[in-house]
Amino acid sequence: MEVAGEPIRVQSIAQEDRKVEVVPPEYIQPPENRPSKLGNMNATDHKIPMIDLGGDRDVKLLCEEIRRACTDWGAFHVANHGVPVPLLDEIRNVGSSFFEELPMAEKLRYSCDSNSPASEGYGSRMLVASDDAVLDWRDYFDHHTFPLSRRHLSRWPHFPPNYREVVAEYSDQMKLLAEKVLGLISTSLGLSSSFIEEAMGELYQNITISYYPICPQPELTLGLQSHSDMGFITLLIQDNVAGLQVSKDGEWVTVDPVSHAILVILGDQTEIITNGIYKSAQHRAITNANSARLSVATFHDPAKTMPVSPAFKPPRYRQVVYGDYVSSWYTKGPNGKRNIDALLI
Ligand code: OGA
Ligand code: NI
Repeated sequence: MEVAGEPIRVQSIAQEDRKVEVVPPEYIQPPENRPSKLGNMNATDHKIPMIDLGGDRDVKLLCEEIRRACTDWGAFHVANHGVPVPLLDEIRNVGSSFFEELPMAEKLRYSCDSNSPASEGYGSRMLVASDDAVLDWRDYFDHHTFPLSRRHLSRWPHFPPNYREVVAEYSDQMKLLAEKVLGLISTSLGLSSSFIEEAMGELYQNITISYYPICPQPELTLGLQSHSDMGFITLLIQDNVAGLQVSKDGEWVTVDPVSHAILVILGDQTEIITNGIYKSAQHRAITNANSARLSVATFHDPAKTMPVSPAFKPPRYRQVVYGDYVSSWYTKGPNGKRNIDALLI
């Protein structure tokens, strides 16, 4: 399926003119990884927590809610987060215009370097190394957004015309919210509110817009295989098509889309720094036979040279230089496993 060394985009398999009725074998998950049941698996008592950040809430109560959500789930929705709600719609709109209105040949002009992990641009496969790995039913556009020296708007889509402006504004807003949430997470553990922000050092931010084309056999595929995010926190929004699932007590729980809310997902570095009091959330995306789905994930990471270690004693995780953690992740792949367990003492 490789064209001139360039991995094929899922959308070109799924789109109308070449529509397939069965997924190509490289997208078929082994039985143990297939979504067991399609549709909404939420039991009413199994809903991801919603935390209201608005107004002048009592910080102590707010931190108790954060603590419970971080302990029980490693992920939670926030409402009244301070990010202008129209901006959430704007980025979903420019993202879907890029994926759905721009011809494939135009999109391919923005291709990422498929030989280098996490390179900026339009791509489909997350991992470079593994030839035999099952492929995700997903295309994406990855943007490097912070520090500002990494932000090259000229490499981002020129269509729709407001694309670059919207992504830049969204990036600034996500940084503010990430700092606010990391402050609350620090406070909720009795640390100074700037503790995690200071431990993180210079903030590295990437924004990935993921597009999950309609899939003829959702029961055999995954949009994105099970993984935890590597950095500190991910802020994610989705459109109104469900598909994101978070693992809770060994069960996959679908995160109902809430258009004005933002999902906070704890990453592995937060698990390390909190000494495992808070766990990173395992999550995945399932596919869908009726509608394509779009999400926007904003990752907040330390510099590659930054060592990260537990803030509490006795440490349960070895110190790790973030860049080494990332390299081993890209070599092994998520593979449904918790890479972070390799650091457990
Ligand atoms: C990710 C991710 C989930 C989604 O990009 O790391 O988990 O719903 N995305 O797209
Ligand atoms: Ni993720």
